[in-house]
Amino acid sequence: MDESRRRTLHGRRRGKKLRAGQQSLLETLLPRLALALPVEPAKIDLAQAFGGSLPRDGVWLEIGFGAGEHLVWQAEQNPGVGLIGCEPYLNGVAKCLAHIERAGVTNVRLFTDDARLVMAALPSRSLSRVFMLFPDPWPKTRHHKRRLVQRETLDRLADLMMPGAELRLATDDPSYLPWMVEHACQHPAFEWLAERPADWRARPSDWPPTRYEAKEIAGQPAFLRLRRR
Ligand SMILES: C[S@@+](CC[C@H](N)C(=O)[O-])C[C@H]1O[C@@H](n2cnc3c(N)ncnc32)[C@H](O)[C@@H]1O
Repeated sequence: MDESRRRTLHGRRRGKKLRAGQQSLLETLLPRLALALPVEPAKIDLAQAFGGSLPRDGVWLEIGFGAGEHLVWQAEQNPGVGLIGCEPYLNGVAKCLAHIERAGVTNVRLFTDDARLVMAALPSRSLSRVFMLFPDPWPKTRHHKRRLVQRETLDRLADLMMPGAELRLATDDPSYLPWMVEHACQHPAFEWLAERPADWRARPSDWPPTRYEAKEIAGQPAFLRLRRR
């Protein structure tokens, strides 16, 4: 994917000037946690990425972790899981590093660019959970093609997720919800786990509010859980 197309898809990489402490975390902690991409066609060696052996409870991926509070909460609650978080917005990455340092978790790896580069480099059937929480809604019809939830992304996730693995999506955008239902819930590789509206209107207890949900939410949020068939 060429660089200009990737920039259009994932938006800005920097916001306001980082504080000295944030800059220092980017320089000292990030290099220890950064996930490196192998030279194609090699795939990411997940055992090596997580310190020499595969995490005993599997590997989870969060796409667009924002400031990382959900990622780090999951890492704390699930110490046997290895979590990979992808986020190109460096101010968010710096906040996530501060959460990681405060929580003292060692089971998180970060990729500070477009998640699709990681998705292209992960081995098939390597993920047991994937989160895409409040992805940028791109509400204008002419921008819908920029949405992260697309047939192409879901086909790739279908390959990366093991049978029974869970995909969690959230949105507060009234036009993204039917789009997610159409593209994800009706995708042949995924089964939507909702049985009644309460199942997608109420946030599950093992799903803490993200920063976006706590501060910027516009409409009523929806929480979609799907299972890889
Ligand atoms: C609306 S914010 C939500 C952030 C977070 N999930 C939350 O709920 O607080 C969407 C995030 O997705 C990130 N993002 C957009 N495109 C991405 C991509 N291709 N790969 C990884 N992250 C992406 C953006 O930088 C932004 O931080």
